[in-house]
Amino acid sequence: MSEPIRFFHRGQVRELRATDPTQTILQHLREDLRCTGTKEGCAEGDCGACTVVVGSLENGEVRLKAVNACIQFTPTLDGKALFTVEDLAAPDGSLHPVQQALVECHGSQCGFCTPGFAMSLWGMYLKQENEQDMQAPSRCQIDDALSGNLCRCTGYRPIIDAARRMTELPPAYFDRAALARQLAPLQREQGFTYEADGRRFHAPRTLEELARLRAEYPQALLLAGSTDVGLWVTKGLRVLGDVIYLGQVAQLQAVRELDGAIEIGAGVSLQDAYAALCRHYPQELSELWQRFASLPIRNAGTLGGNVANGSPIGDSMPWLIALGARIVLGSVAGTRELALEDFYLGYQQKDLQPGEFVQALRVPLPRSDVRMRTWKLAKRFDQDISAVCAAFAVTLGGDTIIDARIAFGGMAATPKRAAQAEAALIGQPWTEATLRAAMDALAHDYAPLSDMRASSNYRLRTAQNLLRRFWLETRSDNPLPAYAVNVFAGA
Ligand SMILES: Cc1cc2nc3c(=O)[nH]c(=O)nc-3n(C[C@H](O)[C@H](O)[C@H](O)COP(=O)(O)OP(=O)(O)OC[C@H]3O[C@@H](n4cnc5c(N)ncnc54)[C@H](O)[C@@H]3O)c2cc1C
Ligand code: FES
Ligand code: FES
Repeated sequence: MSEPIRFFHRGQVRELRATDPTQTILQHLREDLRCTGTKEGCAEGDCGACTVVVGSLENGEVRLKAVNACIQFTPTLDGKALFTVEDLAAPDGSLHPVQQALVECHGSQCGFCTPGFAMSLWGMYLKQENEQDMQAPSRCQIDDALSGNLCRCTGYRPIIDAARRMTELPPAYFDRAALARQLAPLQREQGFTYEADGRRFHAPRTLEELARLRAEYPQALLLAGSTDVGLWVTKGLRVLGDVIYLGQVAQLQAVRELDGAIEIGAGVSLQDAYAALCRHYPQELSELWQRFASLPIRNAGTLGGNVANGSPIGDSMPWLIALGARIVLGSVAGTRELALEDFYLGYQQKDLQPGEFVQALRVPLPRSDVRMRTWKLAKRFDQDISAVCAAFAVTLGGDTIIDARIAFGGMAATPKRAAQAEAALIGQPWTEATLRAAMDALAHDYAPLSDMRASSNYRLRTAQNLLRRFWLETRSDNPLPAYAVNVFAGA
């Protein structure tokens, strides 16, 4: 039976009964509520004009995250709070420090992008306020917070100045305890089913319920962070049938250490997953973390969704495969586990049986004898799709390579290991002669495509050169320092 979507917005609980299950939050704001402060630029998560902040209760604590309203479906708001640029100023009309700083630093010209920038800045302000650390953010932190926002007329310098200035102004504290009280009655004990236009949106709360729904509705689409699926609707104009949303399944949101591995539930956001993994692999993964999409996309999208989508140019699969990660698949029959590389059978083909879903990923903990690196090549630093994404891991016994795992994205129809290059390394000393043999072998492992992002020749040459960089940074004799960008540690 259908229940209304309930969420907190502008001081009241809103109840929706007839909204299309794949109407976006942006459409709901602008077309139904006439809250037109939030803008539509691209409708695909790229420009940040639609940035809003969503508040949720997680284990009794309020979490506030900037996301792109243009690719999130309205029923995902159930039990949450929605904040837009209209919420920033105080009831007496005085500007929030974020807004005041944008005014003082001349951070706006045509103004179209400004609500999105204000919300991304507010997301950063809330985070610092929460850490009781209202100091000026570092340039790295500002760049990361604004990585999903584009401005085509002001230029970024005044906006970056505003990001610093806002912390010097008299503070405006956000009342988290009050929000927790407002959200508490909206939390559900049982799974939630919403139906409109003959289409259902299921939001199970337990793994058992998810497995049962998956078996009962094998044609229903699984929805996680919606950063791929949202675009199928807004850009592909697809009408989705029934949807099973994973965002409320508590067991899928867990990160834990288990049997020498970090287990990341399939519903854990990319931001939380990379944060957890970078505690173990700071040098190896932090640059990729920062370069993966933008903060609002990482706040919404999941590692499970990245892996399940399995795009040949996705950024997580190469390093997961190089580290020997395993994927756990769930269903009513229980769980099945396999090496991640065996999950990909061909272009857009995966070893996912009817009734199954991705439940978790198991990433081995670091070992002192394994050296690993991953790099992404793209035209822009952040918010860009890889032309080539490379990951290398060698296990050394003394100076001899005992094991080698190399995986690439952007080089084949699936994320794929380099079997011949690995064979050229195993059993050999980690020397330049061995490196050269492996670089030659790479040319037999892949026949990459030429497309708008890169030519075949570019892809192959850069793949070989990245292998050289890996050797330069990990050889025993005089290794070069790794220049990983670590925005989150101590920045
Ligand atoms: C602006 C923008 C920038 C991006 N940048 C990058 C980037 O830099 N690097 C990159 O790799 N990707 C990027 N992406 C793609 C996307 O963000 C990732 O693929 C993301 O990890 C998808 O996760 P999601 O939770 O949003 O998946 P969704 O969109 O919800 O789902 C994606 C697919 O996976 C399936 N699925 C999801 N979860 C499960 C599960 N548990 N079990 C089975 N099937 C499941 C869905 O049915 C769907 O087919 C970008 C996307 C956008 C819009
Ligand atoms: S409208 Fe461009 S990111 Fe949403
Ligand atoms: S002020 Fe015009 S796009 Fe930014």
